[in-house]
Parts: sequence; C-alpha cells; structure tokens
Amino acid sequence: MTAITVRYLKFDLEEHQELNAEVIPGEVEMSYLMVGLSMILPYIEPYIIKHSIAGQKIITDPGLLHDMRQFSHQEAQHYRQHSLFNARVREKYPELEALEKKVKADYERFSQRGLKFNLAFAEGFESLTNPFVIFMWRSGMIRDMRGPLADMYAWHFLEEMEHRTVAYDVYYHLYGSYGYRFWVSLIAQSHLLRFMFSCARLMLHLEREHFQARGGWPGRMARIWKWTKLAGKYLLLQLWKTYLPNYNPRHLIVPQEVTDLAEHYNNRAYKLISG
Ligand SMILES: [Fe+2]
Ligand SMILES: [Fe+2]
Repeated sequence: MTAITVRYLKFDLEEHQELNAEVIPGEVEMSYLMVGLSMILPYIEPYIIKHSIAGQKIITDPGLLHDMRQFSHQEAQHYRQHSLFNARVREKYPELEALEKKVKADYERFSQRGLKFNLAFAEGFESLTNPFVIFMWRSGMIRDMRGPLADMYAWHFLEEMEHRTVAYDVYYHLYGSYGYRFWVSLIAQSHLLRFMFSCARLMLHLEREHFQARGGWPGRMARIWKWTKLAGKYLLLQLWKTYLPNYNPRHLIVPQEVTDLAEHYNNRAYKLISG
C-alpha cells in the first residue's frame, strides 16, 4: 500500500484577462508543447482510469486495489482541472479542436485492444511522466513557468510522483512480460509526443505573424537547441532507464522540491482523501 493523497483544489484560471499561452516567458515553443500536454490529458487520463477500473475487477490484492483506487481518484482530478484550463486555450485557438477529435478517436481505438495492451499503455505513459517531472524541475522549467498552468502542473506532478508505482505494479502483477511492456511503452509515448508536437506546431503556425518579432529562425533554433541540451542532460538518461528490464519506479530519486509541495497543496485543498 502506497501513500497517495487525493487533493481537491480550485485554480485561479485568470478569466479576467486574456489567456497567455506563452506559459514560460520567452520560450514560446516549449510553452506550446506544455499547453499541448495539458490538451491531451482529458483524453488519456480518463482512458487510463477506465482500464484501471477494469483491472480492479480481476485483482484481489488489497494493497494494490487501494493504490489503484487512489490513483484513479487522483487522475480524475487532474483531467478535470486541465479541462478547465484547456477550455480557455480552445477559446483562443479553436483550431486545436480538430486535433482533440482525432486523439479522442485514437483512445477509443486503443481501448478495443484488450486489457493487457491498455494496462501496458498506461504504464508506458506513467513511465514517461516520471522522468519528465524530474526534467521539469531540474531544468528550471517549472520555476520559470507562470500562470494557472504552472500551479496546476506543480500539483499534478506532485501527485504523479506519489502514484508512480501503481501502473507498473498493476502491469507486473497481472502480466509481467518485459518485452511487451517495452513495445507498448514506445507506442504510448510516441503517440503522446506526436500530439504535443502537433499542438505546438499548429499554435505557432496560427501566430506566424509574430515569428520575426520572436527572433525569426535564429531565435527559434537557439530556443530549440537550449531545450534539446536540457532534455539531453535531465531527461534522456532517466527515460532510458525506464526501458531496461530492471526498471522499477521505486528506484527513482524524486526531487525534494516536488515532495515539499505536498504540504502546500494539502493546505490549499478544500477536500482531501489521504491514503
Ligand atoms: Fe495525472
Ligand atoms: Fe499518472
């Protein structure tokens, strides 16, 4: 049984002002990737919950069942909060809706592929999330991020760290095939990244009149190179470890700054389910 706390929160969506999708000031490309990540969450997280609930019908281990229930409650809060933020994004960029429709259909199609595939898919998503959280903190991204999405991600990714073992435990409890986990992880992760890049590309295209003011190609290439180096330093090695047969999210070193957020969000929650 793992300590997983479900926190019900309210975020200030700054509805009194125009949405600023450049959530990391001066870093428009990375900002739009992070907006893209938010846009997919109301599709992937309900999909993960749905198959976690299906898994709960065949798992009898009480500790694991407890973790799965807390996991599902946390994920349900995540996608609901991101939906509220995404509605603001959609007001400004209605063209993103076509991408959302497509991704919704993708998850419906994935859902037809049986529980083993879907639980491995969930594990693949979670095993990308873990190193990504470390990258966000170590690279300084979360420190520099502004507005409601920064607040939402800080809370969301604290909880991702709390439940980081659940999808892994469920998959290995029921199936345990390393090769299959590896293969489906690649499908899950490439699908997620493709969507994030498509969103960012579309948003940048819609704002192409600002391209020169943002430094043109030299500016764009410098920013992309900066983030590529940071990803090389803080993300790729951690991600590589998740592909190895001996990977276990328990071995992950969670940044202290992430765990320190627990008290802050516990105090802010209007309802809390400790577990
Ligand atoms: Fe989540
Ligand atoms: Fe998660």
